[in-house]
Amino acid sequence: MKRLQRIRNSQIMRDMLAENGFSRAQLIQPLFAVEGIKDKEEVPSLKENYRHTSESVLKQIEDDLESGVRSFLLFVVPSAKSESHFDLTFHTNTISNIKKRFGAEINLWIDTCLCSFTASGHCCIFHQTGQADLESTLGELGALALSSAQAGADGISPSDMTDGRTGHLRAVLDKSGYGTVPIMSYSTKFASSFYGPFRVAADCAPQFGDRKQYQIDPRNRSDALASSVRCAEEGADLLMVKPGITSIDLIRPIHELTMRPVGAYQVSGEYGSLCTMAEKGLMNFDAALVETWHVFRRAGAAYIITYGARSAKRLGF
Ligand code: PBG
Ligand code: ZN
Repeated sequence: MKRLQRIRNSQIMRDMLAENGFSRAQLIQPLFAVEGIKDKEEVPSLKENYRHTSESVLKQIEDDLESGVRSFLLFVVPSAKSESHFDLTFHTNTISNIKKRFGAEINLWIDTCLCSFTASGHCCIFHQTGQADLESTLGELGALALSSAQAGADGISPSDMTDGRTGHLRAVLDKSGYGTVPIMSYSTKFASSFYGPFRVAADCAPQFGDRKQYQIDPRNRSDALASSVRCAEEGADLLMVKPGITSIDLIRPIHELTMRPVGAYQVSGEYGSLCTMAEKGLMNFDAALVETWHVFRRAGAAYIITYGARSAKRLGF
C-alpha cells in the first residue's frame, strides 16, 4: 500500500514540509554521537558542531531546543569496527536515551549506513572478489534500521546508495510493526569532495579506493534523476539531493517527477567552506549562510539539512 500519511505524523514534520513560506521549521540539524570519547570535540571547520559523547549530545539538544530546532539527523559512531556482525549497542542506547529524554519535543532522523561500523570505512560489505555483497549489506542495513525504530527513531535515513535499500528497509519496517515510520532517503547522492569534514567527524573515510562504485558521478544528470525516481518507487517518503550546492539544478525536476518532498543537504564541505572563508575575514558568515539557504528554497528544496540550523533563530528565521 502506498502511504501518503507517514509524512503527517507530527506537527514538527507537518511544519517541516509546509510548501509555502520559509522558517527554521524547514531546517534539520545534524548531530554526531561518538563512542569512547571523554569530552566533546570540535569538528574541523564546522563552526559550533561537535563530536559529542552520549552525555553531551543531550545537553546539545537541550540548547538547540532553546534555539528553536525541532528536527535532527543523528549520526552514531561506534568505536569498534569490523567487517560484519556489527555491535549495535551504542547505536540503540544513544537513540533511546535521546528519545526517553525529549520524546515528541523533537523529530529524530537516524542516518542509516554501515561506513561508521566497517573496518574498510565503506558503506557496504564486500565479497572476497571485491564486488559489493548486496545481500549481506541489505541484511545489516535492515538490522540497523529496525534497531533504530525499536529504540524510538522518528525516521530512518539511508545514506549508503546500495541498490534496493529503500525497498528493503520499507519491507523490514512494515513487517515488524513500524509501518508509520517514514524513510528520508539520500536519493540523489553524488560522489563528492565536499564530504571531507564529515568523514573526520563520523570516522568513516574509506580505507582503500573511493565511493565511486556506489555514489553518482557528478557529470550525470540522467543517473541522478533516475536514482531519486527509483527511491520514490521503492517507497521513500522524503527524497534528498546531496551535496546541495552541486545538485541545485535537480531539486525541482526530481520533485516534478516524483511529487515527493525533496530536500537539500548542505554538506560539511559546503558549510565548512563558509566557516573557513569567514575565519580568514574574506566573507560575512551570517550573510553567506542565509544566502545559501535562500538559494536552496529558490531551487525548490522542501527542507534543508544544514550544520547551521541552530543559528537560524538568531538569524531571524
Ligand atoms: C556516509 C555519509 C556521508 C555523509 C552523510 N552520510 C559521507 C560519505 O558518503 O562519504 C556526508 C555528510 C556531510 O558531508 O556533511 N554514508
Ligand atoms: Zn556510508
